[in-house]
Amino acid sequence: MTFILLSFILTLMGKLWSGRFKEETEKTVEDFTESVSFDARLWKHDIQGSIAHVKMLARRKIISKKDADLIIKGLNGIAARIESGKFRFRKDLEDVHMNIEHALIKKVGPAGGKIHTGRSRNDQVALDIRLYLRDGTREIIKLIKAFQRAIVSAAEKNIDIVMPGYTHLQRAQPVLLSHHLLAYYEMLERDRGRFEDCLKRVNVLPLGSAALAGTTFPIDRKYVAGLLKFPAISENSIDAVSDRDFVIEFISASALLMTHLSRLSEEFILWNSEEFGFIELPDAFTTGSSIMPQKKNPDVLELTRGKTGRVVGDLVSVLTVMKGLPLAYNRDMQEDKEPLFDTMDTVMACLLILTKMMPRIRFRPGNMERAAAAGFSTATDIAEYLVKKGMPFREAHHTTGKIVQYCIEKNRTLMELDLETMKRFSKLISEDIFRCMSVDMSIEGKQSVGGTSGKMVRARIRKIRNKR
Ligand code: ARG
Repeated sequence: MTFILLSFILTLMGKLWSGRFKEETEKTVEDFTESVSFDARLWKHDIQGSIAHVKMLARRKIISKKDADLIIKGLNGIAARIESGKFRFRKDLEDVHMNIEHALIKKVGPAGGKIHTGRSRNDQVALDIRLYLRDGTREIIKLIKAFQRAIVSAAEKNIDIVMPGYTHLQRAQPVLLSHHLLAYYEMLERDRGRFEDCLKRVNVLPLGSAALAGTTFPIDRKYVAGLLKFPAISENSIDAVSDRDFVIEFISASALLMTHLSRLSEEFILWNSEEFGFIELPDAFTTGSSIMPQKKNPDVLELTRGKTGRVVGDLVSVLTVMKGLPLAYNRDMQEDKEPLFDTMDTVMACLLILTKMMPRIRFRPGNMERAAAAGFSTATDIAEYLVKKGMPFREAHHTTGKIVQYCIEKNRTLMELDLETMKRFSKLISEDIFRCMSVDMSIEGKQSVGGTSGKMVRARIRKIRNKR
């Protein structure tokens, strides 16, 4: 009894692993190796995992029911203290796992020291990240859906606005603004799919792998998986503690999502410029310049574009951490957390703010329509007209090129040409050519599946609405 008490006091005084050490840890080493300054955010999932583990230990009679009850009560008490901000995380206790275990032992006595039976921090941390990532990914999927809804609403509200579609950032062919906006819906739909797919591999229980080899205790991993709602358990203890694929997959899906948000931001920045004048951003989502009083800057969009760099960096960071590691767990892997958390925070913040901003963007149909009509954006329609009259496409392309060249020389638009002039370029041209040269007709003509005609865009919106 005195021995138990003595070792209990010693445990509380020193580090949980201090048994084989003669010297105290250098302060600089403590600071260098600690992770609690950033992994404290895993506390809820750490406790959730520990409670499931303890329930299993009692069920398998590895610890007594009495001890298990004591531990669970203690853990819930710690959770309440952390929640209320009263808990002080200590750097000298290294990480979130040991902070909580230490607090537990302090609170409930030697029984608390039984919580780590049959597990290691290696499978514990893998579990915590998976639980955290599972919640976070589900949240991100919700946020993506909300943003998609905002995009579809904007498309629906502005369904018939015409704008120039671009290639090489040069006016190419007229399109519907709604069609352009829905392109982002499709990108986000793939992103959502990628996160759903990630979840399958996040949702695997690693606990029970212990340090790397498994454990001699008669644990019941299926039972723990059931309690924590994991549909699968890891099949190889070495893999389970050294795998961070799911972190990389998540950041990778995030980097691609951010790339999409960045492209959207870039377009809106351009459209908001005086040069384009296609949209006006809401005052509430822009900021002023400290020196130029006339300015209204699209900072939210610029920062979304800028933060994409961070997430891409996070991906490279974790890939680089993992690429040279021998099996199984290595401390390098502690470096997975800051990039992961940074990605989670960044993605959530960007989705949230863009979703809020979307319905408040004012589109400027006049400017868009003028830009769509200017230039020679219906030239392709003329070529297609000639093809329908029997001319091979390559020749039609050439003939239309000649018409455009003529317009440029005479400083005219296509619509300003009269029929006689047109006929000089081809005998196949007659009165009906003017129909296909108008912007509206050009758009309405694009009836191929996935094309920009109002009919097709409406059909897509209907399909999207029915799916939800
Ligand atoms: N803080 C550590 C991490 O984040 C927990 C696992 C530590 N394991 C160990 N054997 N030192 O990776």
